[in-house]
Amino acid sequence: NFDPGTYETLELDLTDGVLTLTVNRPKALNALSREVVSDLWKAFTAIQDSCTHDAGWPVRGVIVTGAGGKAFVAGADIRQMSSMDPDTASEYGRSMHGVTLLIEKLPVPVIAAVDGFALGGGCELALACDFIYASEAARFGQPEVNLGLVPGFGGSVRLPQRVGLGPARELIYTGRQIDAAEALRLGLANRVLADRDELFAAARATIGEIAAKAPLAVGLAKQSIAGATGRSTAKGLEIEADAFREAFTTQDMREGTTAFLEKRSAVFTGK
Ligand code: CAA
Repeated sequence: NFDPGTYETLELDLTDGVLTLTVNRPKALNALSREVVSDLWKAFTAIQDSCTHDAGWPVRGVIVTGAGGKAFVAGADIRQMSSMDPDTASEYGRSMHGVTLLIEKLPVPVIAAVDGFALGGGCELALACDFIYASEAARFGQPEVNLGLVPGFGGSVRLPQRVGLGPARELIYTGRQIDAAEALRLGLANRVLADRDELFAAARATIGEIAAKAPLAVGLAKQSIAGATGRSTAKGLEIEADAFREAFTTQDMREGTTAFLEKRSAVFTGK
C-alpha cells in the first residue's frame, strides 16, 4: 500500500517508477522510533509485494532519505531507549534487523540519499541499502559508545563488510564522525554530490539506468550478493549457482540473449 495516509512517520512518493521514502520526523532529526521501524516494515513489505510481473513492477527502485534538510536519520530514538528494559530493547533491535534484511532481499535497487547526519541507526539504515549517495553536507558515524551503547541495527556486521575491519573498528570504538569525502575514501559512500538536488538527480539517474535491465536478473543479482555475503566461498558459490540457474528459467533471459545475437535491443517484460 503506497497510500501516504497509511504511514504516520514516513512520506511516500511514487514518480516514474522511483519510490522515494522519506523518514519524516524532522524535529527529532528523523530518529528511528519504534513507530518509524514499524512503518518501514510495512512500506518495504508493500514494495516487496508489488515487485512482480502480475503487479506490473510499479516500483523499479527506492530512494531512502530524511526530511528537514539537516539529517538523513540521527539514529535510534534516544528518548525512547532511555527508559527501555533489556528485553524491549532487544525486540526493538531485532525488529529493525528485520527491516534491514527486507531491504537487502528486495529485488529492486535501494539507494540511501544522505544529506546531513547519518548517525548510529541512521548509518545502519543506509548500510542496509544497496549503495549510499551522499551530499557534501553528509556526516556519518556510529556514536553509540557516547551513550553507553553499541550498534544495534546491524552496524557491527555491515560496517566491517562495507569498509573493512580496521576502519569499522575505529569508527565504532571512537564514535567519531566523518564527512562525505572520508566516507567516499572508505567506500562507505559510492558517490558524493554537491547538494540535495544533485543527490536526488544522481540517484534517479542510476535507478533509471538499472530499470532498463531485466528486472528478474537484477533481483537475482541482489539476492545472490545478499545471500553470499558473510558466507564461505563454497556456500557463496552454491548460492550464485542457484541464481544463475534460476535466470535460465526466465523469458527475459531468452529475449536478452536472442536480441544480442540478432543485433537488436532487448525488450524486457519482467517475466
Ligand atoms: N533520538 C531522539 N532524538 C534526537 C536524536 C535521536 N537519535 N537525535 C537528535 N534528536 C533530537 C534532539 O533531542 C533535539 O530535540 P529537542 O529539540 O526536543 O531538544 C532535536 O533532535 C535536534 O537535535 P539537537 O538539538 O541535538 O541538534 P544539533 O544540531 O545540536 O546536533 C546532532 C545534531 C549532532 C546530530 C545531535 O542531535 C546528536 O548527537 N544526536 C544523536 C546522535 C546519536 O547519538 N545517534 C545514535 C543513537 S544510538 C543508536 O542509533 C543505536 C543503534 O545503533 C540502534
